[in-house]
Amino acid sequence: MARAEFVRVMFNDISHKYDLLNDVLSVGTHRLWKKSFVDLATKDAPKKVLDCATGTGDIAFMLEKKGAEVTGLDFSEKMIDFANVRGTEKNSKVKFLVGDIQKLPFQDKEFDAVTISFGIRNVESLELGLKELGRVAKSVHILEFGQPKNALYKKSYFTLLKAYVPVFGLISKRGDAYEYLIATSETFPSDEKFLTIMKNNTKFSHYRSVPVFGGIAYMYSAWGEV
Ligand SMILES: C[S@@+](CC[C@H](N)C(=O)[O-])C[C@H]1O[C@@H](n2cnc3c(N)ncnc32)[C@H](O)[C@@H]1O
Repeated sequence: MARAEFVRVMFNDISHKYDLLNDVLSVGTHRLWKKSFVDLATKDAPKKVLDCATGTGDIAFMLEKKGAEVTGLDFSEKMIDFANVRGTEKNSKVKFLVGDIQKLPFQDKEFDAVTISFGIRNVESLELGLKELGRVAKSVHILEFGQPKNALYKKSYFTLLKAYVPVFGLISKRGDAYEYLIATSETFPSDEKFLTIMKNNTKFSHYRSVPVFGGIAYMYSAWGEV
């Protein structure tokens, strides 16, 4: 199975437990990280925002609360079904679509900003995904796992993660989903390495990386005309 199809089916399979597992796995901290991320992405009060790899819509709903007109996109139909259910419960106007980040159905610079939280790591072609994000929006904001710079902290964090995460694989009945999380988080390019890839595949005048929790995750932004 191609990697994209493996990822899509995996997220379909865990969609019904995704929100609960996120809370348990991160001991609620993902909510704080997402809040900081949305604060950063809405600093210039973007009017029209696309949230890619929206999942069950966490970021999309937070962006809407900041006053933006929001579209959420994900290639897992089941994640989008849950996002729509949540949207109805919240009386939200966010428009959710099924689609692939590698081929976004939007015009060039149609959005003031595009956001993607814990999604870019999963895109089969990182380069193509970044190109598409940069094509459709005037600014790009990415929240993604990475590796802490401090060697002792890094070793302790990944040792703990490896001991802790498989339990949740058992709950979700997709143990491989959480093995995948660890493997990709441990190896995915972060900080300067990621910024270099971002610079090579998008055209903006400014790029920035901000570590979260000492480098367990990073917030990347690109903005400004060249
Ligand atoms: C870990 S979840 C993140 C969901 C949400 N953004 C959050 O922070 O909770 C990753 C999401 O990326 C989606 N995804 C992965 N590759 C994609 C692609 N090529 N196009 C669209 N969605 C994709 C998956 O279906 C999944 O819902």
